[in-house]
Amino acid sequence: MRGKDIYLCESCGNEVEMLKDAGNVPLCCGSAMQRMEEKQKDSGQEKHLPFVEGEYVQIGEVIHPMEEKHYIEWVEFIGENGFSLKKFFNPGEVPRVKIPKDFKIIKIRAYCNLHGLWSLEV
Ligand SMILES: [Fe+2]
Repeated sequence: MRGKDIYLCESCGNEVEMLKDAGNVPLCCGSAMQRMEEKQKDSGQEKHLPFVEGEYVQIGEVIHPMEEKHYIEWVEFIGENGFSLKKFFNPGEVPRVKIPKDFKIIKIRAYCNLHGLWSLEV
C-alpha cells in the first residue's frame, strides 16, 4: 500500500493530503497543486531517508537539519490494514521518534519542507 498523495501549492506553500482521490487535481491560489513524488533514492538521501535504528527511526542516517527555514515537518508510519500515523515536528526538535508497535509497519515516509517527500519500505 502506498501512502495518500501529498499536494503542494508552490505559491502559498499550502500542503494537502488527498484522503479520497476522485480523479481531480486540487487547486490553490488559482493553479493546480503539485503532487509530491515519493523519493526513495536521490541526492541528499543520507539526510532524508528514514533510518531505522532498533526501536527508533530518525530522519537521515546523517540526521537532517531542523532549522527555521529547513526542517523535517513530519514522519508517517503506514501499516497493514489501512493504518497510518503521523508525528509532526517543529524546527529545533530532533527528527527521531519511537516506532509505534500497534500495527505492522510497511512503509515510513518523511517530509522535508525544502526537499519534499521521501519513503522507506520496511
Ligand atoms: Fe532537506
